[in-house]
Amino acid sequence: MHDALRQARDEALARIGRASTLEELEQARVACLGRSGALKCLMQRLAGLPPEERRAAGQLANEAKAAIEDALAARRGVLGSARTQAARPALDITVPGRCRAIGHEHPLRQAEAELREVFARLGFEAVEGPEVELEYYNFEALNIPAEHPSHDSFDTFYVEGDMLLRSHTSPVQIRVMEQRRPPIRVVVPGRVFRPDTPDATHSPVFHQIEGLVIGEDVTFADLKGVLAMAMRELFGPQTETRFRPSFFPFTEPSAEVDVCCDIGGERRWLELLGAGMVHPKVLEAVGYDAERYTGFAFGMGIDRVALLKYGIPDIRLLLENDLRFLEQF
Ligand code: FA5
Repeated sequence: MHDALRQARDEALARIGRASTLEELEQARVACLGRSGALKCLMQRLAGLPPEERRAAGQLANEAKAAIEDALAARRGVLGSARTQAARPALDITVPGRCRAIGHEHPLRQAEAELREVFARLGFEAVEGPEVELEYYNFEALNIPAEHPSHDSFDTFYVEGDMLLRSHTSPVQIRVMEQRRPPIRVVVPGRVFRPDTPDATHSPVFHQIEGLVIGEDVTFADLKGVLAMAMRELFGPQTETRFRPSFFPFTEPSAEVDVCCDIGGERRWLELLGAGMVHPKVLEAVGYDAERYTGFAFGMGIDRVALLKYGIPDIRLLLENDLRFLEQF
């Protein structure tokens, strides 16, 4: 009896050890502990043994059963966790990672950066000024009296009292001259605001880059030379520049400057900037000696530069934030 019990136990343990699936493990359990399993049958025969043998054989049978149950539980744990692992999708470390879309500079920023660069090469330092400005800097200091008709072309959005959204970058001319003495050679890029009706070349929020040069013997020829050179640097050697007489209260004489260049094989003229010789009244407003110093200034639309440079047909496209458009630059 003892040998039979040990043999049944050893066979069961071996079969449990060999089981490679949960199904095989269950078959091993039934073969040993099931109703007609090997160990079960032996245990049923215990009752027929003489009492002195029954005790020892019963103990051995119970130990065998416990050993088999422990082995079953351990093997079930191993096979069960292997099955959950197999059910999980395998980690494929060769799959390329997810690409994070990296943005790029807005075409307006690209145009501004290029303008800064072109003027830096011509010896201009870039400075900035406030977008919310005082009436005095936007108008009076620039020789634009409140009741004068020229006030209208620089009309703007008022914030509160004498504070407004600047309608051009020219107020920064005054701020720079108040802080420095000649010689001065700066450019001022920045955002400006006007109650203009939007169309293909006008926007109520747009960008300008102001230029200011003050020194002794600065002439209109210097202005023409600097602008013609800057335009060729920006748009290519074939670029033509056209100066039309104009009026600004803060320059005398004044001009409007148009640029012609190829856009998609088509020659196109576009007004790009206002310019002129700094008016003596402006120099006097900041305490400069207008007999000794002269200078020129200009204010260029950066959005318009972007239109010409990148062949964009409508200025409004620049401000709509439509990625289908922006991703082309
Ligand atoms: C001025 O703003 C003057 N401050 C320029 C100036 C500076 C003259 C220094 C003399 C000396 P104007 O209003 O013309 O001028 O505007 C200058 C440029 O800004 C225009 O040539 C044009 O390129 C651009 N611009 C004007 N209004 C708009 C608008 N609504 N949308 C887009 N660009 C505009």
